[in-house]
Amino acid sequence: MANTLTKAEDRVSVGHAARLAHVSKSFAGPAGTQLVLDDISLDVAPGEFVTLLGASGCGKSTLLNLVAGLDRPTGGTIETPGGRPALMFQEHALFPWLTAGKNIELALRLRGVAKSQRRPEAERLLELVRLGGAYGKRVHELSGGMRQRVAMARALAQDSRLLLMDEPFAALDAITRDVLHDELTRIWRETNVSVLFVTHNVREAVRLAERVVLLSSRPGRIAREWTVDIEQPRRIEDTSVAELSVEITEQLRGEIRRHGQH
Ligand SMILES: Nc1ncnc2c1ncn2[C@@H]1O[C@H](COP(=O)(O)OP(=O)(O)OP(=O)(O)O)[C@@H](O)[C@H]1O
Ligand SMILES: [Mg+2]
Repeated sequence: MANTLTKAEDRVSVGHAARLAHVSKSFAGPAGTQLVLDDISLDVAPGEFVTLLGASGCGKSTLLNLVAGLDRPTGGTIETPGGRPALMFQEHALFPWLTAGKNIELALRLRGVAKSQRRPEAERLLELVRLGGAYGKRVHELSGGMRQRVAMARALAQDSRLLLMDEPFAALDAITRDVLHDELTRIWRETNVSVLFVTHNVREAVRLAERVVLLSSRPGRIAREWTVDIEQPRRIEDTSVAELSVEITEQLRGEIRRHGQH
């Protein structure tokens, strides 16, 4: 597909959006030091969409927080040459006392956007996530799916070259999640932002990503990765998505069995 070719060509000259080299992370606890992440090396290319897949507790959020700069690795290095990444969580984390529009404007203000430009830019971002009329709506007036759209618009307001997403659709029903998968794919293609998306849902990982990276548990290590060579936009129920999901699920089960979880 022409779009894919252009993206691949773009990547050749511009290095990486994120580079993790031999990253480890330990936490001190009552039972001693716990090694959560061990020797993680991973590059995300500019404009690439990578999903990080792993069982609950394997260290996915820990890894994303390190890339976001919210915490520091115990060992190894993390580079994000495009500046500070934007982070979107499972819970929308919007300010309930502000409207949808003002939540986005706050992010614009923190980015240094001039006051006169904030409202039109917030409205443009709301259009981008297909929430055109929601500027004046308060958070409690929005459905769960709409809140995640606002959260996505707020993350995009940071104008980062790297978007980090920690199970952002996990709390939504299947249909709403499906619609937001389509929206995220569209926005990713339109903006050419790099995405590092964390999930424990194999189908979701395959539906969205160009590359799926499987983490093992205790400690989290890169167990395997797959290039997803299926044309976008995909459907979660596509046979090709299902087939690769079965293969990856087998590996994930092996990882979970090996570490005695669930
Ligand atoms: N600040 C912290 N202090 C101590 N231990 C922590 C801290 N943050 C995470 N951990 C531990 O690190 C491990 C990995 O946690 P993390 O939240 O990264 O997992 P996860 O893969 O995101 O799981 P889930 O899919 O359930 O969100 C867990 O054992 C957790 O208890
Ligand atoms: Mg997590």
